[in-house]
Amino acid sequence: MPRTGGARTAKFREEPMKGKPVSASASEMAEVVLPAQTNALGKLLGGHVMHLVDIVAAMAASRHANSYMVTASVDYIDFRNPVSLGEIVLLKAHVNRVFHTSLEIGVEVFSEDILTGERKHTTSAFVTFVAIDEHTRKPRPVRPLILKTSEERRRWREAAIRREIRLALRKREKR
Ligand SMILES: CC(C)(COP(=O)(O)OP(=O)(O)OC[C@H]1O[C@@H](n2cnc3c(N)ncnc32)[C@H](O)[C@@H]1OP(=O)(O)O)[C@@H](O)C(=O)NCCC(=O)NCCS
Repeated sequence: MPRTGGARTAKFREEPMKGKPVSASASEMAEVVLPAQTNALGKLLGGHVMHLVDIVAAMAASRHANSYMVTASVDYIDFRNPVSLGEIVLLKAHVNRVFHTSLEIGVEVFSEDILTGERKHTTSAFVTFVAIDEHTRKPRPVRPLILKTSEERRRWREAAIRREIRLALRKREKR
């Protein structure tokens, strides 16, 4: 007898979730900076960078969790160098740590000069997403993260410190 979608979902939920390595969901995006995305100085608008950060981070988060994800918070976004008109803006996102229903994504943004190929680190950001169950629309657990490199272990440790600060701030704001 063919199995229904409901039965398949129930079986999936009973099985322990298999972990995934960081590399399986690491995501990249690139685009050329066009005039409509720049300010009067010919530099890429901060708001556009934030939009791209949210998209590439969501890509990494949903690829890791294989779930719908919502952005819960964006903390620490730091613009170190501008990206100029005609340059390529390149974004790299990876899962730093999985908590329970949430995970933290680290995003690095680079500018690339098309004539010289020179690449500069322009922005860093940390974005937290929450996995949402497609049926109940409530937060659902996220599969574990498999760490393979010392760099991944360092990011994993540092993410715990940021979470503590983030949740303390959230609690204070709620008062
Ligand atoms: C994010 C959201 C789902 C959390 O819902 P909630 O009822 O507060 O859920 P809970 O208190 O059960 O927390 C669920 C998880 O979210 C985390 N979380 C909630 N608010 C957070 C915040 N501001 N920053 C970081 N993590 C947060 C909790 O720590 C918890 O993580 P854990 O399970 O890994 O420990 C809810 O606030 C929401 O839907 N917000 C709107 C999201 C949105 O519209 N985003 C923009 C478009 S995608």
